[in-house]
Amino acid sequence: MGTPFIYGRIADSSNFTNRKKEVELLKRNFSSLVNTIIISPRRWGKTSLVNRVAQRLAEEDKSILICQVDIFNCRTEEQFYLAYATAILKVSHSAWDDFAASVRKYLGRLLPSVTFSDMAQTCELSFGLDFKDNKMTFDEILDLPQAISRDSGKKIAVCIDEFQNINEYDDPLAFQRKLRSHWQKHTDVCYCLYGSKRHMLLDIFHNYNMPFYKFGDILFLEKIPKEDWIEFIRKKFSETGKEISGELCGMIADRMKNHPYYTQQLSQQVWFRTGKIASAEVVDEAFSDITGQLSLLFANIIDTLTPRQINFLLAVADGVTNFSSKEVLIKYQLGTSANIKNLKKAATEKDLVDILPGNRIELQDPVFEYWLKYIYRTR
Ligand SMILES: Nc1ncnc2c1ncn2[C@@H]1O[C@H](COP(=O)(O)OP(=O)(O)O)[C@@H](O)[C@H]1O
Ligand SMILES: [Mg+2]
Repeated sequence: MGTPFIYGRIADSSNFTNRKKEVELLKRNFSSLVNTIIISPRRWGKTSLVNRVAQRLAEEDKSILICQVDIFNCRTEEQFYLAYATAILKVSHSAWDDFAASVRKYLGRLLPSVTFSDMAQTCELSFGLDFKDNKMTFDEILDLPQAISRDSGKKIAVCIDEFQNINEYDDPLAFQRKLRSHWQKHTDVCYCLYGSKRHMLLDIFHNYNMPFYKFGDILFLEKIPKEDWIEFIRKKFSETGKEISGELCGMIADRMKNHPYYTQQLSQQVWFRTGKIASAEVVDEAFSDITGQLSLLFANIIDTLTPRQINFLLAVADGVTNFSSKEVLIKYQLGTSANIKNLKKAATEKDLVDILPGNRIELQDPVFEYWLKYIYRTR
């Protein structure tokens, strides 16, 4: 029997729990063409959430098409346009021969070539050389959703995953200006932009001087609450002929601080080790195993940090809030209070901590936090 928990992949159908409010909000925004920005640390469930909404709307609302573009691997603007055009043409035509026809119709002047893999009925798009210097064609690609919407009579929601990656392109600001100037003219299209670098995304969407200022609703996705995990884990165990108490489910969620990816991973490890009835020892064992597997990775992270940066993380792990107090500065050897801003910035940019609403600061990775406190420190 396969394991009932999944992690590192999109959580869908029965693997998807909670998020009722968020699903409703996004469905409403998409249907009424309100742009939405979703921000959360990695592996909290953004991709799964948008995927869920896309599936639900596909069943419930035939007047809208949902297009999902993942730009994680797009390192240049050109790659962005390719991924973008491919995703939009794909969603607008379900059968692959239609896809070829629409490529010819909408992008014929670009001399694109289309390759098909028959088995999976998927198609990839690539462009000829003249694509690169032809600015005109970039504009056409950005206007594709509106053109398709006009021809099909359907609304379109374009969802772009890992949006913060556009900051790696040659001239991010010019690129943002270009996107914004096209997108704001699209009357039947809305955009959902999401990603995990909170500070970078806030700079794009929350900064008065930036092109995307006030582009849409900003949703800060939260972790999944403990009560939902308890119900979810219990159900998964009982559906597969095993038993676990509510208390132990709560212990799993607590250990991982309700982190979606890790809670699923720990649940899976406990499930594997459980014959019939789960025990606290098994939860401990599974947690140590996961920590052990990751310790080399954590040691590598430590190697890239200065002693003060490490001390700062230890203070965060201990739950310190007032970093500029004299006792804290001395106890953790952080230097003067003037350093704190830089230490925070470095840790945020390295994606090690997250500054939460209310200026709370937290280590992003609950296992790393445990490792710092109880393994690294005692070495
Ligand atoms: N709604 C959910 N219900 C259950 N598990 C989830 C949910 N959302 C996310 N997860 C868990 O978290 C992991 C990461 O989710 P993902 O959507 O890829 O996050 P992100 O896009 O924010 O990095 C999933 O593989 C799954 O284990
Ligand atoms: Mg994702």
